[in-house]
Amino acid sequence: MTSTDTKMKKIGVYTSGGDAPGMNAAVRSVVRTAVTNGLEIMGIIQGYTGMIENKMLPLQMRDMANIIQRGGTILKTGRCPEFMKPEYRKKAADFLRAQGIEALVCIGGDGSFRGAQALATEHGIRVVGIAGTIDNDVYGTDDTIGFDTAVNTALSAIDKIRDTADSHDRIFIVEVMGRNSGFIASHVGVAGGAEEILTPENIIPVDKIVEKLKESRARGKTSSILITAEGQKPGRAYDLAEAIRKKSGLDAKVCILGHQQRGGSPTANDRILASRLGYAAVQALLDGKSNIMVGVQYGRLVEVALEDVISKTKEGDKHLIQLARALSV
Ligand code: ADP
Ligand code: F6P
Repeated sequence: MTSTDTKMKKIGVYTSGGDAPGMNAAVRSVVRTAVTNGLEIMGIIQGYTGMIENKMLPLQMRDMANIIQRGGTILKTGRCPEFMKPEYRKKAADFLRAQGIEALVCIGGDGSFRGAQALATEHGIRVVGIAGTIDNDVYGTDDTIGFDTAVNTALSAIDKIRDTADSHDRIFIVEVMGRNSGFIASHVGVAGGAEEILTPENIIPVDKIVEKLKESRARGKTSSILITAEGQKPGRAYDLAEAIRKKSGLDAKVCILGHQQRGGSPTANDRILASRLGYAAVQALLDGKSNIMVGVQYGRLVEVALEDVISKTKEGDKHLIQLARALSV
């Protein structure tokens, strides 16, 4: 289908919220699909900040060379509290209209989709979302861009920690990212052979953890890895280590993996996902669609209403947490 079928001439693309490896591969896919279909495309810089400050630039085929393998986002990203206010969304919509931009591809997490949905509902600008966040906490898609890379980055750190944990017969608490969700923790925990996984959805009392560690030692285990998501409450990794020390006398070392999980070259899985979703997003706009997110379910491309994406919560991976526990005997 060409752009003349929908009379759409010009679209915009932006990345928003926390950056995620594979966002560049998604931008590349969006831009090349758009240009191939005769559309002009503007790259909006720094998410909603660029939209309200009119920071954007035209993107061409060749601008997309050599970015598929790069982490971060060439369009920059950001968190823009002003966009919560209707007057700033109006300012953004006015800028977009002045530039002749009729539709947008938003690459970000559920917060970014809330902004996109508001823009669409209040100002009639068509939007299609692509889930890009290392947290994987977006309803309606099994995978988000960046999650696979973040899990593998954390895993390679944990493999190294295992060596020293084993050499010194130590307990390690490794804190992974995930302010509000435990997807990274549960995946990394199973793949890294963790003894326990603590997530915002899986709060385990310290007494239980201590009991488990003592049992493990009694069974002959000499080292243990505990994974905690940063959102785990009460207490993050250092508090947990202190509580374990107080209750059991066991010394637990802490390693906070932090923002290294957000960077680095995207894995093949993330590049493929990003390429599929970028293509699908532009096709959806060309088909006249709006207020949807393109995602994957059971390996297939799907379109999900943005309303559902932002109002529903993706279920956590309880089964993975149970699996890690069952296998760490
Ligand atoms: P993510 O998109 O990764 O979930 P955030 O939650 O930080 O990241 O959201 C990114 C940006 O989206 C915010 O900084 C803000 O500009 C915009 N946003 C988030 N929630 C809303 C909302 N309810 N209404 C309008 N804009 C929003
Ligand atoms: O949403 C991605 C994420 O990396 C979360 O896992 C983390 O809690 C948060 O962003 C950190 O955000 P910032 O880099 O803005 O501190």
